[in-house]
Amino acid sequence: MVDCCFGGTGCAVWSTERVRPRGRGSRVGEVTLGAEDRVIWRDGEFIAWADATVHVLAQSLQRGSLAFDYMAVHRPSRGPAVFRVDDHIRRLFNTCGIMGLPIAYEVDELIEATLETVRRNEGARSVRISALFPSVEVELVPQDPHIAVFIAAYDSRKDIIEGKPGKPHFAAELSLKVERVKRSRRHDLIPPQAKVAASYTPSLPAKWQARREGFDDIILLDEHDQLTEAPTSNLFLVTADGTLATPTGEQALRGITRDSVIQIARELGFAVEERSIGVDELDTAREVFMTGTSVGVWPVIRIDGEPVGNGAVGTETARLKARFDAVVAGDVPEFAHWLHPVSQSLERPENPDG
Ligand SMILES: Cc1ncc(COP(=O)(O)O)c(C=O)c1O
Repeated sequence: MVDCCFGGTGCAVWSTERVRPRGRGSRVGEVTLGAEDRVIWRDGEFIAWADATVHVLAQSLQRGSLAFDYMAVHRPSRGPAVFRVDDHIRRLFNTCGIMGLPIAYEVDELIEATLETVRRNEGARSVRISALFPSVEVELVPQDPHIAVFIAAYDSRKDIIEGKPGKPHFAAELSLKVERVKRSRRHDLIPPQAKVAASYTPSLPAKWQARREGFDDIILLDEHDQLTEAPTSNLFLVTADGTLATPTGEQALRGITRDSVIQIARELGFAVEERSIGVDELDTAREVFMTGTSVGVWPVIRIDGEPVGNGAVGTETARLKARFDAVVAGDVPEFAHWLHPVSQSLERPENPDG
C-alpha cells in the first residue's frame, strides 16, 4: 500500500496499477498504433492522427478545461449516418457556454466539419470532438484564450483498443456498485450539463476501485442520497408499477441516448418520470438499465451483489433495447431524422416518411 491523496489511508488502485515507462522514446500509450491512416480535423485543416497533440503544459491538460462530446456513427442501409449530430454539437456549445470557453465557430460549421471528418475516415464508428486551450499558460485564466477544436472519427476497437496491452473490460449485462463514499458524490462545482474533462476526475478512483472489487460500473449519489448517474452513462429504473423513472436534468447529464429512450418509451406507451429517485428505490425496482452513446441500452442485472428483479435482463429493458437498436439501424421511420447521413451536407436529412 502507498499513501494516496485521500488522507493517507492507502489506496489499492494506485498501489497495484503502477506501470513504468516502456523504454526511452516509446510512444505506446500516447499515439495508438494502428490508426496511421486516420486524419483528424484541427481548426479547419486535416492533420495525421499522430500529429493531433498538445503540449504537456497546455492550459486544458493542466487545468482540466477541455470540453468534448462523443457521437456514434451508425450504418443503416442508406449508408453511414451520425446519430443526432446537431444535438451533440449544440451540447458541446452548451458545455463551452457553461464553462466560459470562447469557442469561435458556429454550430453549423462544426456539424459540417464532423460530417466531413467521418467521410474522410473510412469505417469510423464514433466521433469525438474536443474544444480546448492548447496554449501553455502560467495563470488559470489564459493569456491566449484561443480555443482549438479537434474532431476525430475512428473505430474504437481497431484504432484504439487493439493497440493496447491487456484486455479491455467488457460486460453485456452489468453488475453495479452504489458508490457511497462521500468524497465521490456529486457536489456540482461543475454542473452536470457540462461535458468537461475535470468533471470525470472524482469518479475515476471510485470506478477503478469498484472494478478491482469485481463490479462493472458505479452509480453515483448526490449529497441527499438521491441517484444521479454512472460516470459516463445515464440510469433508468422500471419501478414496481411499470413506470420508467430517471433522475432529473439537474442531477445528471441530459444524455442524448437518455432523451432518445424517453421519446421511444413514450411512443411505446410507457409512463415516463424525470424525478428525484432515492437510493432505496433500487431495492424495489423491477428492472434497471443504463444508457449512453457507446452502449445504447445496457441492462443491469446486479447491484451491490444482489440481483435486480429476478437477476435476468428485464422484459421492458429488452423491449426498449430492441426498439432503440432498430432506431439506430434505420428501421423506424418515425425516428429516421435522428440519423444524419454523412453523404448529405447540412440541410436536415429528409424523413423518408416525408
Ligand atoms: C456524465 C455522463 N452521463 C451520461 C452520459 C451519456 O450521454 P450520451 O447518451 O449523450 O452519450 C455521458 C456520456 O458520455 C456522460 O459523460
